[in-house]
Amino acid sequence: MLNTNVRMQSAGNSKLNALVEEMAALCQPDQIYWCDGTQEEYDRLCEDMVRGGTFIKLNQEKRPGSYLCRSHPGDVARVEHRTFICSKTKEDAGPTNNWADPTEMRQTLRGIFSGCMRGRTMYVVPFSMGPLGSDIAHIGIQITDSAYAVVNMRIMTRMGSQVLDILGDSGEFVPCIHSVGAPLEPGQEDVPWPCNPDQKYIVQFPDEREIWSYGSGYGGNALLGKKCFALRIASVMAREEGWLAEHMLLLGLESPQGEKTYVGAAFPSACGKTNLAMIIPPKGFEGWKAWTVGDDIAWIKPSADGQFRAINPEAGYFGVAPGTSEKTNPNAMKLVESNTIFTNVALTDDGDVWWEGMTDEPPAHLTDWQGNEWTPDCGRVAAHPNARFTAPASSCPTLDPAWDDPKGVPVSAFIFGGRMSHTFPLVFQSYDWDHGVYLAATMGSEATAAAENQAAVRRDPMAMLPFCGYNMADYWGHWLSLKDKVKNPPLIFRVNWFRKDANGKFIWPGFGQNMRALSWIIDRVHGRADAVESPFGFMPRQSDLQLDGLDMETSAFEALMKIDRLSALNEINDQSSLFKRFGSRVPEALLGQQNSVRERVEKADSVWHPGA
Ligand code: OXD
Ligand code: MN
Repeated sequence: MLNTNVRMQSAGNSKLNALVEEMAALCQPDQIYWCDGTQEEYDRLCEDMVRGGTFIKLNQEKRPGSYLCRSHPGDVARVEHRTFICSKTKEDAGPTNNWADPTEMRQTLRGIFSGCMRGRTMYVVPFSMGPLGSDIAHIGIQITDSAYAVVNMRIMTRMGSQVLDILGDSGEFVPCIHSVGAPLEPGQEDVPWPCNPDQKYIVQFPDEREIWSYGSGYGGNALLGKKCFALRIASVMAREEGWLAEHMLLLGLESPQGEKTYVGAAFPSACGKTNLAMIIPPKGFEGWKAWTVGDDIAWIKPSADGQFRAINPEAGYFGVAPGTSEKTNPNAMKLVESNTIFTNVALTDDGDVWWEGMTDEPPAHLTDWQGNEWTPDCGRVAAHPNARFTAPASSCPTLDPAWDDPKGVPVSAFIFGGRMSHTFPLVFQSYDWDHGVYLAATMGSEATAAAENQAAVRRDPMAMLPFCGYNMADYWGHWLSLKDKVKNPPLIFRVNWFRKDANGKFIWPGFGQNMRALSWIIDRVHGRADAVESPFGFMPRQSDLQLDGLDMETSAFEALMKIDRLSALNEINDQSSLFKRFGSRVPEALLGQQNSVRERVEKADSVWHPGA
């Protein structure tokens, strides 16, 4: 039986009604609230959170419609070690996921969810990942006791009653059950950021396409449309249905002649995806325009016209604030001028926000992300390094006019890039699809900006290591199989913005200058750019890249592009430890690619470079 002050709003979908009833009986909330997704509802929930101390309304002249939120200091990031893939067998989850037995996990969850919403409201949040009604989109229902999650979901997804209309009586949806795990006893006062400091579970059931999340209110742990649905569950759906759910930004590049080329680009977390998604073409690229479709996730399906078409399943950006500035990403600074929720950034004395890297000089006084007094000499950071902004796509100054097109945008190239201070050149192209899948599967990244030249590499295949909902080796097999689904599969490239010289300094200026690599990629797509064959793949010579105005000496270019036999062989050997973890499940085609690159490297000069 539901509690008395329940506000029910009828929905015709019997599966949904049954789920809501079942969850209400299990979680025992004080009331149920069906979200309609209106601005009025959003404003009301935000004002409630201001009154309850969860939100601070920022100076409305400086940041109209914007709020600051401070999380519990122990609830500041995704918790990968508490993230589980509960497929039938451990092998189906693979060696890179935490597996738990689905039956046992369901029992555990039933236990901890029992009564977990006492004293709270249970919100029912219908949302669409992707344009409403698009063939590429899918629907989720988040059930949550966090108003913070609700308002963030309204920015990050298409959320509200219009989704119930699309769902209809029998439409399919992914149940996304979420609780902060902090029930309130009668008379107990709430805290600004309820969460469960002792128990956190982020659980995916791929076979049932279901998500259960407990104990955290933060980011990817709580906004279940993002990593849990759009990547972990969607990657499983994509395998079954013949498409791709990827950790990719989507960018459209338009030439002065109006030719538009879309690329999908995958980078591990914290490699500047949002910056690249909002790139500003530098001097020398007058007349070029860069258009943002998405900054984090792409769903890509083969279409009837024989190409891959992609959507950004999200409707907003949940970006890392520290490091974002007028220099690194002026478009993101415009994006967050209004209607933004800031989490764990610092508060200025005049009611605005600040974070490390926003300005060269920090303000003389701030309130830090934990609400403490802060001065530049206090020895602490003012904003948490994983502080975030949540901002609607509609505020993005470079938002692509086709970003909401239900048909998606055609993708001509896939780009993969880790953070590597050594071994990998600025840009190169795979010889074919299988070689490209190998380049993506073996992608690695240095965890931190490495001071030394041979820092440990963390393999992050396709930048999907924490996000693939099934055995990564089967995922590689799925990628390999997709080339037959379209007439002309996209070309595949590797990039590396992070190579360092002998003095440990970045060789490539990065940011807007990355357009120079992108423009070669586009020219390759359209058959206009030359390249030479290297041990790693097709590579541009100095004259093949548009480097005017960059003032790059030939010696620096060589250092940026060279392939050093020893470090290449070290890299190839190191990849073997990744493959070994998957045993016989690794597709033969990838092992064949690895042998081919080894042979090419062994035959090449000890230091190979593409020349001028
Ligand atoms: C993210 C991530 O938050 O990749 O987007 O970690
Ligand atoms: Mn991401």
